[in-house]
Amino acid sequence: MSDLRHYHNIALVGFMGTGKTSVSHILSSLLHFEVLDTDAMIEDQTGKRISEIFEQEGEPRFRAYEKALVEELKNRRNAIISTGGGLVTNPENIASLKTHSLVVCLWASPEVIWERVRHQSHRPLLLQTADPLEKIRTLLEQREPFYREADVLVHTEFRSLKEVAHQILHHWHHLGQ
Ligand code: S3P
Repeated sequence: MSDLRHYHNIALVGFMGTGKTSVSHILSSLLHFEVLDTDAMIEDQTGKRISEIFEQEGEPRFRAYEKALVEELKNRRNAIISTGGGLVTNPENIASLKTHSLVVCLWASPEVIWERVRHQSHRPLLLQTADPLEKIRTLLEQREPFYREADVLVHTEFRSLKEVAHQILHHWHHLGQ
């Protein structure tokens, strides 16, 4: 990393099903940081489930909620920020997170993601198509350039959640926090 950045949070980005929520809680217990989940915060702010926002207001409005929330996160410290899978599709969100967070992307293949999410009922409308695995492949391909803007990329397929968390801690300490 060429630029000297001072960050005091960890932001987890990555596609749905890559373990962001679970890893955020492990990191929270190891670092004694609070967990900030952008989806949960948007649901609290709007009084609506994410799925209701998509159905009633549409994805562009949801992305506007995400962007506004990311700006609010600039005021937070000692937090593990778990972000919704599409948050990175706005480059301004990544840039904003980098002003205060080590941005870590959790990665998995489309097939593994599908195996992890296929049985979960609360998954977004994005996957409610005739061929959800193909939809995952398409979305992941479209988003990969944004995910690669992260400071660190951790492959989650060959590691336990705990190993993923410790891999992140290694970077957190190595990069001088
Ligand atoms: C989305 C992922 C969801 C949620 C919303 C949109 C996406 O978060 O933000 O349904 O665009 O991939 P998770 O990654 O926690 O499922």
